[in-house]
Amino acid sequence: MAKHTVFLALVLFLGIFNVVVSNDLPTNYEYYTSGGITSGLNADQNYFLLNGRNISIYGGTFHYFRVHSSQWQDRLRKMRAVGLNAVETYVPWNLHEFYSGSYDFGHGGSDFQDFLDVQKFIKLAQEEDLFVLLRPGPYICAEWEFGGLPGWLLRDKDIKVRTNDPIYLNYVSRYYKELFSILAPLQFTKGGAIIAVQIENEYGNTYNNDRDYLRSLRSILQENGVVELFYTSDPPSAGTAGGLPNEVLMTANFNNNAKWNLDQLNSFQTNKPTITMEYWSGWFDNFSGQHSTVSVSQYVSVYEDILSYPASVNIYMFVGSTNYGFSSGAGLNTKGTDNSGLTPITTSYDYDAPISEAGDITEKYNATAELLVKYNPIKTRLPSIPSKPERVALDDVIISEQILLSEIIDQFPNKLESENIVAMENLPINNNSGQMFGYIVYRKTNINVKSGAILEISGYVRDTVLVLVNGQLVTPVLSSTDDLNNFGYWRLANSTIILTDQDLEDATIDLVVENLSRNNYGTLDQFQQFKGLTDNVYIDDEKIKNWQIVPLEFKRQWNLQLSGWHEVRTREATPALYRASFTVTDLRDTYVNVQDWLKGIVIINGFVLGRIFAVGPQQALYLPAALLREGVNEIIVFEHFTAPDVIKFSKDPIWGLGTYVKN
Ligand SMILES: *[C@@H]1O[C@H](CO)[C@@H](O)[C@H](O)[C@H]1NC(C)=O
Ligand SMILES: *[C@@H]1O[C@H](CO)[C@@H](O)[C@H](O)[C@H]1NC(C)=O
Ligand SMILES: *[C@@H]1O[C@H](CO)[C@@H](O)[C@H](O)[C@H]1NC(C)=O
Ligand SMILES: *[C@@H]1O[C@H](CO)[C@@H](O)[C@H](O)[C@H]1NC(C)=O
Ligand SMILES: *[C@@H]1O[C@H](CO)[C@@H](O)[C@H](O)[C@H]1NC(C)=O
Ligand SMILES: *[C@@H]1O[C@H](CO)[C@@H](O)[C@H](O)[C@H]1NC(C)=O
Repeated sequence: MAKHTVFLALVLFLGIFNVVVSNDLPTNYEYYTSGGITSGLNADQNYFLLNGRNISIYGGTFHYFRVHSSQWQDRLRKMRAVGLNAVETYVPWNLHEFYSGSYDFGHGGSDFQDFLDVQKFIKLAQEEDLFVLLRPGPYICAEWEFGGLPGWLLRDKDIKVRTNDPIYLNYVSRYYKELFSILAPLQFTKGGAIIAVQIENEYGNTYNNDRDYLRSLRSILQENGVVELFYTSDPPSAGTAGGLPNEVLMTANFNNNAKWNLDQLNSFQTNKPTITMEYWSGWFDNFSGQHSTVSVSQYVSVYEDILSYPASVNIYMFVGSTNYGFSSGAGLNTKGTDNSGLTPITTSYDYDAPISEAGDITEKYNATAELLVKYNPIKTRLPSIPSKPERVALDDVIISEQILLSEIIDQFPNKLESENIVAMENLPINNNSGQMFGYIVYRKTNINVKSGAILEISGYVRDTVLVLVNGQLVTPVLSSTDDLNNFGYWRLANSTIILTDQDLEDATIDLVVENLSRNNYGTLDQFQQFKGLTDNVYIDDEKIKNWQIVPLEFKRQWNLQLSGWHEVRTREATPALYRASFTVTDLRDTYVNVQDWLKGIVIINGFVLGRIFAVGPQQALYLPAALLREGVNEIIVFEHFTAPDVIKFSKDPIWGLGTYVKN
């Protein structure tokens, strides 16, 4: 009886509370869909209409594939709570079609499965009262490996990605058929959340004025049932090369001079709504650079300039996130296949966004809320901001076990044999899709080497290399950011190193090559990128042939089943894996502190968390509770050089250089 009364009182209390909070306002969806849906987003005049009602789009970018699916709802609720009415996302082809003809949309069994249920994401967005702006690529930039294109495309020697090339378009068609069988029913006029669909991405930056290619993509989308508004997205400084002016809505990307940029955009098309598709809230980080930030005052001032223009605006990124595994991309400041200007992106994609990589509300978030109240005349019901348990720094974990990389190579079953060096993509593995991620080892056995012998790698290393002679590391240990200009890294062409100071017979030489990620941006000649070694290897000017090749993909199953662990036998600099277990009783987010390591990767319960690189700026890897479990957890670190005794954690991000490198 008493229990009953409390229950009733609670229902009554919550009921009243709800009324007070909602203020009787409609939800976003109630506002735009009450009375039924007769039309989608319309841009046939200089303002937007949605279902016949005026709308300004206040969007924020959130890449579902960079956040574990168990955290999607939290981030989406926070977006809606700030006053946004739309979420914008890219769709990464290279994760969804991880091998040619093999797909993962959340149930496909790839290592990224828990990040890929795009149907669930879009339905969740709708449940959280947000519309969706969809950017299905096929090229997405996004500082993402190869701009989202699958590495296996490169196996078709003559392929011309991002053009009207029929080989390329056939692959796009095959993939879009799968993708849009899932997404087409989720369009607004079919009762779903997707109100607009982007064609390609910043095509203007290729300076390849190919309108037919953009039209081909539109046709493929239409053939697959896409009926909502199309748009293209470019910095106005690129002119109209990336768009189809007055045929497809053009939108603008920038982070300053709002008036100039929006005036430019409006000059490209007549009687169209004005919308910024990417207003950059911060910026990404590349290795050996500084951690990028954009001040709150600068962020607020440009955002207000856009809102008051007046224009619709989507904030890129609104949700900071993570390039888990080997998924980060790279810039390329050099032309064509010159690898010296590679600027590989860090694992963190925090972006200094209004919601941080770990999901924290920031000052930018609060400032966004204030401006949206001020500028959005349409008042709808907003949820309250969900709270989350505080992060923790777990206790230090003593490293108990080791396997030397040379031991792994020795024991690797079915090493591939090849007369010549083969790039990762061209290996006959993974259902003939090649190697997509990780490291590749080129081993030469039974070779006689003279004292002072010089090894030369012609062309560029793609992207780092460790040289071992009879299992001993001969590459210098990373000690300063200047080392990146020397042998072992991507900047130097035709690089050389002395192999030994003794005459050796029947020696074994290993070249351990790491793929730091493919370029994601620029002109079309910069998209023909193979990884691993692509040219020749010489010793004292003699071309070396007949290699054993070992792909080290660090796939989850392989990581979990690695055998041969032994106690830490050597502290000498040599590439090795280190393993430790730790117990978690209270599941919370944390960071792995990698300040005392030099170069490598961190693996949690089999999943590759991300990269370590002491040249900075990232020195802690975000580890969400979703990747941990109650009870015993396993951490493995692959280190190229020397390891500390313990693995440390941190409650917050750490930026700067590692402990053991100088600038
Ligand atoms: C929509 O906005 C435009 C421009 O402000 C205005 O002229 C028009 O009357 C509005 N339409 C509706 C249906 O409110
Ligand atoms: C191998 O690839 C083909 C298409 O290229 C696909 O049809 C097939 O299902 C794939 N096999 C596996 C085991 O993934
Ligand atoms: C990489 O970082 C440096 C230093 O922060 C910066 O100057 C440079 O512009 C960045 N490169 C790219 C391609 O973003
Ligand atoms: C944002 O606003 C909330 C509510 O007013 C406040 O509790 C929080 O401290 C603010 N956060 C920051 C980072 O300013
Ligand atoms: C590397 O050496 C080759 C052959 O000697 C030469 O053609 C090429 O120009 C060199 N590359 C660079 C970037 O110096
Ligand atoms: C390099 O890594 C990128 C992603 O990081 C992948 O797309 C590409 O296939 C890889 N190439 C090699 C040779 O590993």
